[in-house]
Amino acid sequence: MEPTDKGKPETLDELIEILHKIFESDNINVEEVQNIMEAYESKPHEWEKFAKFDPFRYTRNLVDLGNGKFNLMILCWGEGHGSSIHDHTDSHCFMKMLQGQLKETLFNWPDDKSKGDMVQKSQRILQENKVAYINDSIGLHRVENGSHTEGAVSLHLYSPPFNTCQTFDQRTGHKSTVKMTFWSKYGERTPFETTVSQENN
Ligand code: SIN
Repeated sequence: MEPTDKGKPETLDELIEILHKIFESDNINVEEVQNIMEAYESKPHEWEKFAKFDPFRYTRNLVDLGNGKFNLMILCWGEGHGSSIHDHTDSHCFMKMLQGQLKETLFNWPDDKSKGDMVQKSQRILQENKVAYINDSIGLHRVENGSHTEGAVSLHLYSPPFNTCQTFDQRTGHKSTVKMTFWSKYGERTPFETTVSQENN
């Protein structure tokens, strides 16, 4: 993808600065955001201070609050870690691979009458530096690090920001509302008492 007229971000800080400018507008051009995130070439020394792994589950690490317009975070996926099938609370979700690969599986929303397994729409492997996009009209997804030997790191932008979402049981389509928390904020571990959540961290 080509960089936009806002320039090619050479560093993560430059990317954040450009994202702030883009999100000053209330009309978000999905392709523009996708292009600018893709134009940034991942350099681990720029983001490793945010990349905190946990041995048991993927972690969500806050990088920037986007002037209230978006949340930017780095997710760290240990070997075999994955998310539940979930929605995106009516927000845009952009997801850029910073290191490694992740598998994204898309699902249809379960309808009231559907029984049994949720319907899988597609599956793809997200490669380093590529940016995936999803919103609730596209469907639901689950993300997994299928590697048994390598961790993976991804950069997520959610706009507007949200801190609850719905997760879905693949076998029944039954949904639950869960709170989403941060394992760390700006490179510092979040105090334990604020990290209790049903979903993650
Ligand atoms: C994902 O897209 O699987 C990550 C969900 C999250 O923000 O925790």
